[in-house]
Amino acid sequence: MEGFAGKVAVVTGAGSGIGQALAIELARAGAKVAISDIDTQGLACTEERLAAIGASVKADRLDVTEREAFLAYADQVNEHFGTVNQIYNNAGIAFTGDIEVSQFKDIERVMDVDFWGVVNGTKAFLPHLIASGDGHVINVSSVFGLFSVPGQAAYNSAKFAVRGFTEALRQEMALAGHPVKVTAVHPGGIKTAIARNATAAEGLDKDELAKLFDKRLATTSPQRAARIILDAVRKNKARVLVGTDARLLDLLVRLTGSGYQRLFTPVLGRMLPH
Ligand SMILES: NC(=O)c1ccc[n+]([C@@H]2O[C@H](COP(=O)([O-])OP(=O)(O)OC[C@H]3O[C@@H](n4cnc5c(N)ncnc54)[C@H](O)[C@@H]3O)[C@@H](O)[C@H]2O)c1
Repeated sequence: MEGFAGKVAVVTGAGSGIGQALAIELARAGAKVAISDIDTQGLACTEERLAAIGASVKADRLDVTEREAFLAYADQVNEHFGTVNQIYNNAGIAFTGDIEVSQFKDIERVMDVDFWGVVNGTKAFLPHLIASGDGHVINVSSVFGLFSVPGQAAYNSAKFAVRGFTEALRQEMALAGHPVKVTAVHPGGIKTAIARNATAAEGLDKDELAKLFDKRLATTSPQRAARIILDAVRKNKARVLVGTDARLLDLLVRLTGSGYQRLFTPVLGRMLPH
């Protein structure tokens, strides 16, 4: 893919799934890549694949919820490569549970990783992206940042927040005349380990939930998702919907307004264990 050669790109959560595929596609397109994850085994696997492509790689263990570490990491990446052009705030986790039975800590944990991780990454890298003269912030939300479903309040909250944060950032960068583009990513079901890595409220069968996701909801490969995302980045899209499911669901929500809730509840009520 054109437009990425020589660029320095940072990918969080690069040890698995969409993050790993993004790092590989970026490397294939000639970018220099800074990858990070809390899963050092997955990260080492991604690093190996990037080395095989011949890419310039910096791999680090980084927990996106650790703000001070993230700030220090941004300076290290900038020093290592001499500049930073793009950050893909991709690391994320999922949790299933109705609000009534979810613990505060379950909801806080999802917000910490999925929302505050994105805020930490954006704020840590923004000065470097502005200084680069050619910056881009890519924040991974979800279709669950476009509509809500029962059992996903924590995840919905974090992903709606990522969308709000990202859409405001894009307008602010334009108003300030800063050379930083901003793209919000809304994937539908992607075939990754997300559901297998997820947690759930007490009484829910995590394995059943993961099976349901893997068999019925995950339709797009991470490679395809990465290519769709990079194409949107290259074209400086404000929003990218990843997968046919994401495009159809977005259309449905726009056509029905809040009416989608009446349509979804009975369908999801039958599908999701409660
Ligand atoms: N798979 C889907 O269907 C789907 C749909 C919509 C949105 N998303 C979003 O895409 C992003 C990537 O998810 P994925 O599907 O590739 O899942 P995944 O579980 O395969 O990969 C997520 C990666 O993030 C890492 N991670 C988790 N917590 C972290 C932390 N605190 N600090 C650093 N790294 C951490 C994990 O170790 C893992 O390697 C997430 O933000 C997710 O919410 C996924």
